[in-house]
Amino acid sequence: MRFTISFIFSIIFAVTLVAFGFAFYQSSTEKKQLNSELELRTRQVAKEIFHNDTLFFEKIDPNNINHLADSLNKQYNLLGFAIYYNYDSILSNSSVRDLINNSKVYIYQSITADTSLGNFFKAGGKKLYQHIRPTKRPYGSTKAVIFYSDAGYIDKLIDSIWFRNFIGWFVQALLVSLVTLILIRWGIFRQINKIVAWAKAVRTGNSGLIKPQPHLDFLDPLHKEIESIASAMNEAKASAEQEARLRTSAEAIWTPERLKVEMENLLHGKKMIVVSNREPYMHIHDGKDIRCIVPASGMITAMEPILKACSGLWIASGTGDADRETVNKHDKVEVPPEDPKYTLRRLWLTKQEENHFYYGFSNEGLWPLCHIAHTRPTFRNDDWLDYKKVNEDFARAVLEETKNEEQPFILIQDFHFALLPALIKKEKPKAKVAIFWHIPWPNPESFGICPWQREILDGMLGADLIGFHTQYHCNHFLETVNNALESMVLWENFSVKKGGRTTYVKPFPISIAFTLKDYDIGLPKIKPSQLLSEYGVHAHFLGIGVDRIDYTKGIVEKFLAIERFLEKNPSYIGKFTFVQVGAPSRTQLKSYSDTISSVENETNRINLRFKAKNWKAILLLKRHHSHKEIAPYYSSADFCMVTSLHDGMNLVAKEFVASRSQNDGSLILSRFAGASQELQGAIIVNPYDVEKTADAIKTALEMTKEEQNQRMMQMRLVIVRHNIYSWAATLLRTMATIN
Ligand code: G6P
Repeated sequence: MRFTISFIFSIIFAVTLVAFGFAFYQSSTEKKQLNSELELRTRQVAKEIFHNDTLFFEKIDPNNINHLADSLNKQYNLLGFAIYYNYDSILSNSSVRDLINNSKVYIYQSITADTSLGNFFKAGGKKLYQHIRPTKRPYGSTKAVIFYSDAGYIDKLIDSIWFRNFIGWFVQALLVSLVTLILIRWGIFRQINKIVAWAKAVRTGNSGLIKPQPHLDFLDPLHKEIESIASAMNEAKASAEQEARLRTSAEAIWTPERLKVEMENLLHGKKMIVVSNREPYMHIHDGKDIRCIVPASGMITAMEPILKACSGLWIASGTGDADRETVNKHDKVEVPPEDPKYTLRRLWLTKQEENHFYYGFSNEGLWPLCHIAHTRPTFRNDDWLDYKKVNEDFARAVLEETKNEEQPFILIQDFHFALLPALIKKEKPKAKVAIFWHIPWPNPESFGICPWQREILDGMLGADLIGFHTQYHCNHFLETVNNALESMVLWENFSVKKGGRTTYVKPFPISIAFTLKDYDIGLPKIKPSQLLSEYGVHAHFLGIGVDRIDYTKGIVEKFLAIERFLEKNPSYIGKFTFVQVGAPSRTQLKSYSDTISSVENETNRINLRFKAKNWKAILLLKRHHSHKEIAPYYSSADFCMVTSLHDGMNLVAKEFVASRSQNDGSLILSRFAGASQELQGAIIVNPYDVEKTADAIKTALEMTKEEQNQRMMQMRLVIVRHNIYSWAATLLRTMATIN
């Protein structure tokens, strides 16, 4: 408002000045012109009179002079005239007689110079003009004739011209200024006010609420500048906030060192034993050499860092063809081979046990039973018998390892060992036993088709603690127990009472080894074409998928979505490549070899359909890859795609997010993976919905850097706060507090 008032006053001042200037200029020009017109006219009158009659003034009768002046006045509009003979003898008509005194000096000058002279002067408040013309008298003496004209009309005329012009200019300038003011106020100020409101909203973090773009081209550069300042500001703000959050929570973030101290406090020197079917290190023959590999397993990714941090003993099946050659006489080997931190004890399964326990009951029975992926479970009695047998063998091994311990901590992994908790507890009731179920638990109706569901539930309920990834799976488990067993389910604390014992059923979302130390460390990004050069593939955009080739992972569904994406967005053909790292798994089973064939067939079909030189839509890398080999794909891809049809957690999603140290890239994540509950910055999809999953790929590729940053930071923060060390600490604390 203050600005408007001072603006208006400045305009009025400027307008007055301009109008005054113009009016002054015009009137003085006009005045000059009128003056010279009068001069010219008077001079011409004099000339004309003398031209017509040279002796005109010689013949004048002094008695008739007034009459003569009247006639000259009528004819030439002269006020009058005077004839100068000498200083004392001047003849004039009565109306100019009083003016003679004003003329004497000029008359003298004119006669002396012998030239006509003219000038304006004022007399009696009137403006007059006199023209003096010297003439030679016949007998030699000089006289002069003075003509007087009234010049008063010039001033009047000038006054009116001045006033008219001033008003005219004033009004014109005022109008132009007012129009300018209106334009500025409504056109520019409004737009600037919009930008100000938007910039303010950006500053306060509400930019989404206001539409920023002003519709004035000339403000575009300003708008762009503010936009880039705002985005830089937002980024800085977000990372400052993140840093602050990390700093304040640094205390709360779990590290291997902190877990080690915590475990020492919890275990008080007692042994910790981890039991799983899959071993963390597998020795295999490679020509004449023996190579050690880490098998593809989310369970291993999660458990290995805990064992590394706190040592202990890990009991697992020895399945590598060089495993026997690398253990000592107690079937033990120190691992990791390059920097031993804990002991691995291998148990040897017979071929029959492997077929019935591992392939049969575990992977053709329980696996499809727990994963709702529309592959039917198969239950065979022989498989069940070996399942029981192997569980007993492992129980024996655990008891053997803990024979001198009254209260060891035993952490059993996964669906291969449902019977193990009860078997251990029967022999060692004081042992602290927990079983963590790494895969989903289905609803009671689905689980109810298992002919040995009661035995399985009883076996599991031998544990003090049963862990799942999500509360949803805990609820399903408790409902199953409620339906199948004579027991008491206590929903208020999620526990089951049976035969005088209590088992707690709790969610522990598993995670990866990601600490503040790893937070900002990442591999440098490599251009897709460089990364794929060894495969002769050239691409600008890169998607990555890492899975065991398993029907639960939705790999075919993923490929159908990629096909649909290219169909809908042909501009990406030749530019976008999806790399699928696929580790063959459980290949002896038909359902798995069929899955491998389908994945290969789909890859070939889609690649043939969108054929282009030096390019492939899908690059299938079908072999086991180490973490080190996968890392460059994680850090260089534009997005990672996890399309599990059902998955307990899915640690690939977390590993990808953790690797993005620059907080860029996107994660497309199936809503049927447990990870989708925590990683809310992901683009969540239903992998059965090909159309929407295809659109998610486009969204991922075209997402702004700012949005990628926001989403990634949210997810990375979740993972660093809930890393595997915090998982282990929470689980072990819970175990320790159970009586
Ligand atoms: C899942 C299971 C793990 C298993 C892994 C690999 O992640 O939860 O227990 O180790 O699959 O399967 P495999 O049969 O090769 O051990």
